[in-house]
Amino acid sequence: MLKKTTIKTIQKMKDDNEKISVLTAYDYSTAKYMDEAGVDIVLVGDSLANVALGYDSTQSISMTEMLIFTSAVARGVNRALVIGDMPFMSYNISVEDAIKNCGEMLRAGANAVKIEGCNGYILKVIKRCINSGIPVLGHLGFTPQSINALGGHSIQGKDVDSTKALLDDAKKLQEAGAFAIVLEMVPEESAKYITENLSIPTIGIGAGRFCSGHVMVSDDMLGKFSDYQPKFVRKYADMKKVITNAVKQYCKDVKSELYPAEEESFKLPMAEAIKLKNEEILC
Ligand code: KIV
Repeated sequence: MLKKTTIKTIQKMKDDNEKISVLTAYDYSTAKYMDEAGVDIVLVGDSLANVALGYDSTQSISMTEMLIFTSAVARGVNRALVIGDMPFMSYNISVEDAIKNCGEMLRAGANAVKIEGCNGYILKVIKRCINSGIPVLGHLGFTPQSINALGGHSIQGKDVDSTKALLDDAKKLQEAGAFAIVLEMVPEESAKYITENLSIPTIGIGAGRFCSGHVMVSDDMLGKFSDYQPKFVRKYADMKKVITNAVKQYCKDVKSELYPAEEESFKLPMAEAIKLKNEEILC
């Protein structure tokens, strides 16, 4: 019997010292294969802005676009926990607006939402989500939606004081009800210290070995997105090569009339084919 992964399963994994595997997905079939391969969490990350839609920044993607991709992913997943990433400005205008948008994400098929950052306002949004039955994954460290305020892709928690400040924020998210926290681009000693001082799991990306689980952008780990590659990416496949070689071969086959072959074509019944042949002769 297929057992759906829930936020309780995720907490139990941390408590049992079992690492949590998380990957991003943006479409139905990739999500389906990931689910069948056994990933614990499928995150419909707003990284889809860059890797699937070709925008320069995650700030460009809208709520409407995120909902389309989230519902496609959710239709492909039976077992894993599906998390919808709340895009830039979809939760920053007012608490009411944020709850409405987070609710839309669950209506599209997500089991939880991810929200970046920690301040008094974000804590209010998280509390209201939890009270409305919407589980929340927090996101601290480098938070891509604040790239302009942070001044670029920069490692966070680079000394004891900033690590303590990160832990302080993480504890606030935990108290507000977040079920786990993504730590992005944090030195591994800092991520370890934060992980050991929380009861909820941490999910690292560029945060070293000691988080409760790890996430990678699927287009990075599958070698599909090649515009840039951060230090923490491990390439498990070379999809760029697979796609390029397949397309080259296809073009060659079309030009040399090797595709389509007879067995790839629909055929008339024999009698109709003969009649048509006679028509050709007559005209
Ligand atoms: O958008 C995304 O893919 C993310 C992960 C990198 C955590 O936020």
